[in-house]
Amino acid sequence: PLVTPHDALRRARRERRGLAAFNVIQLEHAEAYAAAAEATGCTIVLQISQNAVRYRGALAPLAKAVTAVAEASSAPLVLHLDHADDRALVREALELGFTSVMFDASALPYADNVASTAEVVAEAHAVGAAVEAELGEIGGKDGVHAPGVRTDPKEAAEFVRDTGVDSLAVAVGSSHAMLERTAVLDLDLIDELRKAVDVPLVLHGSSGVPDATLTAAIRAGMTKINIATHLNHALTDAVRNYLAEHPTVVDPRKYLGAGRAAMTEEVIRLLGVLDAV
Ligand code: G3H
Ligand code: ZN
Repeated sequence: PLVTPHDALRRARRERRGLAAFNVIQLEHAEAYAAAAEATGCTIVLQISQNAVRYRGALAPLAKAVTAVAEASSAPLVLHLDHADDRALVREALELGFTSVMFDASALPYADNVASTAEVVAEAHAVGAAVEAELGEIGGKDGVHAPGVRTDPKEAAEFVRDTGVDSLAVAVGSSHAMLERTAVLDLDLIDELRKAVDVPLVLHGSSGVPDATLTAAIRAGMTKINIATHLNHALTDAVRNYLAEHPTVVDPRKYLGAGRAAMTEEVIRLLGVLDAV
């Protein structure tokens, strides 16, 4: 079924386990994640980013299809809007029944970030949806990696208190869209942030983080683990191999089917690494 993230976030934080959050671009991503959730019994956050919406030119077609996948599934699946800075898009997502949204005003000055995030929290909570925000911009979305940015624990505590967000993305050494898994995370800072902040912490740019570091980061206090690039890697490698082995194929079901199966397999493996709830 389609669920809100509240229970899974709370449980994962309490038990120092991961809540898996994977990005959806094609319907095959959502189908692969649902299959993996059903195979393992884990909750998965299916996230559609504002960038993915820009690629399609609209939110509703993919969102409605992913909603149908979630509703038809026997596993608990969250529908989350990822990295939105467009207030109108956030409102549209809430109207479409998203159970969670990320409002990312981290590029704004602190006071403006607080004020606009608090407004989004009021709108989302009115319909029972959860809000994730970001403090300390996690780089890499524009191809410029800035793994040196750090979130200040005191500022994070104030931000959560002043905005009422349900979870907080923090900068602890990761960067978006890394192709190599070579990121080094600041585990002491994660521990400090967990002590300072009483909502679950979100790790962005987790594709660049090695398996062992993901596990260590969760034990230290990270809860929601966002992975996109790494699964696109699995998808695209499988499609590339399939096309190389079958140079005359034209039916997209053949090569996308191979890609979808590869994503399902890698997600099942990752859910183990994350000790996912
Ligand atoms: O919000 C999405 C994630 O932060 C994905 O980052 O593509 O580096 O895994 P990634
Ligand atoms: Zn992200």
